[in-house]
Amino acid sequence: MHKDDVKKILLTEEQIQTRMKELGAQITKDYQGKNLLVIGLLKGAAWTVTDLTRYIDLPLRVEFMVASSYGNSTETSGSVKIHLDVHDDLRGKDVLLVDDIVDSGITFGAIVKILQQNHPNSVKTLAFCDKAERRVNGFECDYVGFKIPDEFVVGYGLDYAGDYRNLPFIGVLKSSVYAKAK
Ligand code: IMP
Ligand code: MG
Repeated sequence: MHKDDVKKILLTEEQIQTRMKELGAQITKDYQGKNLLVIGLLKGAAWTVTDLTRYIDLPLRVEFMVASSYGNSTETSGSVKIHLDVHDDLRGKDVLLVDDIVDSGITFGAIVKILQQNHPNSVKTLAFCDKAERRVNGFECDYVGFKIPDEFVVGYGLDYAGDYRNLPFIGVLKSSVYAKAK
């Protein structure tokens, strides 16, 4: 189990870090004079949040939320449950909601609605990866790390049944990995 289970590397560690720097610089420009609160969705977004915020040259705060819709399968169940909510008061805050990947768009769609009920100044979204062709609700992210094809990927926070999150690159697993799980 681990690196040997990957059949193809889609994004290298270097490509990812270069893109994080670019996004950090863009956000630094866009959020001048604002009250930035970065909210990451655990667990997958932790890798993006920690790398990205080091490249944002502004005062900011970080919170995390736990929301789930996936379980152990590679398909979404369509319902989003919140297990851990943000403690900070959102009034006057410019929220940047971060996830590892936007797929159907159901997770972002649901959580943006919930955050807006708490009257922040603004809510924008950032997805490390975007599988645009999988979208069911037309959701569009404000910031995207990489547009990727419709393939199940792991690494840099993204898991398969809880494993592979710590791979520093984005890869596609060998089909033998899924066969074993059955
Ligand atoms: P959405 O609600 O369908 O947009 O799905 C977002 C969530 O699905 C992400 O936070 C991931 O946990 C999970 N997900 C979607 N595609 C992948 C993938 O290729 N690898 C790992 N997790 C994925
Ligand atoms: Mg997730």
